[in-house]
Amino acid sequence: MKLTHIESHARLDAHELVAVLALEGDKPDVGKELAVRDFAWKGFLGEFRETRSADAAHQRVLAVGLGKAALLDTERLRRLGALVAQKAESAAAKSCALIVPRSIVEKLGAEAVGTALAEGALLGSYRFEKAKSKPKPQKLETFAIVAPKDCGPGIEKGRVLAEACAFTRDLQNEPANRLTPKDLAAAAKGLVKTGRITCTVHDEKALEKLGMGLLLGVAAGSRQPPRLVHLVYKPKGKSKGRVALVGKGLTFDSGGISIKPAAKMDEMRFDMSGGAAVLGVFHALRSLDVPYEVHGLVGATENMPGDNATKPGDIHVAMNGTTVEVLNTDAEGRLVLADVLCYAGAKVKPDVVVDLATLTGAVVTALGHEVAGMFASTPELEAELRAAGDTTGERLWPLPLLDVHKDAMKGTFADLKNISGGDLGAGSSAGAAFLVPFVPEKAAWAHLDIAGVAWGGSNRDWVGGQLGSGFGTRLLVNWLETR
Ligand code: BES
Ligand code: MN
Ligand code: ZN
Repeated sequence: MKLTHIESHARLDAHELVAVLALEGDKPDVGKELAVRDFAWKGFLGEFRETRSADAAHQRVLAVGLGKAALLDTERLRRLGALVAQKAESAAAKSCALIVPRSIVEKLGAEAVGTALAEGALLGSYRFEKAKSKPKPQKLETFAIVAPKDCGPGIEKGRVLAEACAFTRDLQNEPANRLTPKDLAAAAKGLVKTGRITCTVHDEKALEKLGMGLLLGVAAGSRQPPRLVHLVYKPKGKSKGRVALVGKGLTFDSGGISIKPAAKMDEMRFDMSGGAAVLGVFHALRSLDVPYEVHGLVGATENMPGDNATKPGDIHVAMNGTTVEVLNTDAEGRLVLADVLCYAGAKVKPDVVVDLATLTGAVVTALGHEVAGMFASTPELEAELRAAGDTTGERLWPLPLLDVHKDAMKGTFADLKNISGGDLGAGSSAGAAFLVPFVPEKAAWAHLDIAGVAWGGSNRDWVGGQLGSGFGTRLLVNWLETR
């Protein structure tokens, strides 16, 4: 589907479906050339997501309720952009134009309105049909946003962000036999752009040389070799600092010898969602300019119970020399992240590190599928990330990381153990606490536990359901652009 921007109401009759947004209490205004009689709107209240269709001479017209003016925000616009695109598709329209009233541009700002509607239309039209033997072609070919001239840059930004998010979703949705650690690394290589983005992939031998015993310990039970992806983005102008984005890239997590139950084990294809989100950021950085040097680091491996697999009680040595007893092979994400964080400290020396990981089932219990857990080392970083997530509709909520959590990760036979002892509870805090000794010194650090939000959310029109959500990509780009 091609997204366009139309500045005037002329030639609207060239579209098979013309949609118009209307605030609660307002009459839908389709302009003069599309003669729609007033009684078509009788009883239409303009409540949020309310729709009413009517016929003009040559096309269908759809009024869509924006709800109360006081409740209008960009999340609602994103939802409505998605809703209109879905209605157009189910009406078999090849072309759709969406009329945006000037009043909402004045209220929310031209750039924000353009971005939200573009993101909504594109992400609401997202499908994953690759693996169907007879993929259903998309009927909707063009989606035009009819809005003032100054909405243009926002619409273009929305397109870039939505395409990056769709790239993340595509990686997430591939099953483990079609997206191995090697495939994830190849996808990262595909993002290289001369002069701006480079990519190094470290293979098994290189990981041994680097001393990444924890990552290799997780990979040992699989016949798929692990990879460490290192993407680098250099800004056009002077850099304001060095940022490392670290992603958990478990292309499948069976649990290893501490094997998971069969129910929903297929969902562990999504255990690379943090890594996919990091790759998605670089997808967007190919066409944006942010004032930071950005490093994307993804530890990619499977967690399998092969005959060489790590056994409960086995001790492995991290890249920074810390020894770890692996008491539960299913707490593998923290092992992979630990070595990648060491690599960040040794090779990148970042000012700030943000990691994204589907790390704990406990965060799903605590926060559900709409909000990700955040552990941040400074209040500034916490506030920045939270504001970015509020803007992009990817909500974050702070969770505690206390000394009791760190103490609970001290090992009996080695320095650390990978699961907490005793009745600590607080599974997400324990996971975060394990990472602390590996975080690069002097760097501000945030850990985002995205196990709940990476897939399976309730329907918000542009996101939700069984497919991957793409969580994190748009949030991180917004953070890089605004901080
Ligand atoms: N990838 C899982 C976490 C997960 C579970 C994500 C469910 C999404 C949905 C992670 O590797 C894991 O298995 N964590 C364990 C840790 C435990 C053994 C301490 C968990 O949360 O059960
Ligand atoms: Mn696991
Ligand atoms: Zn996992």
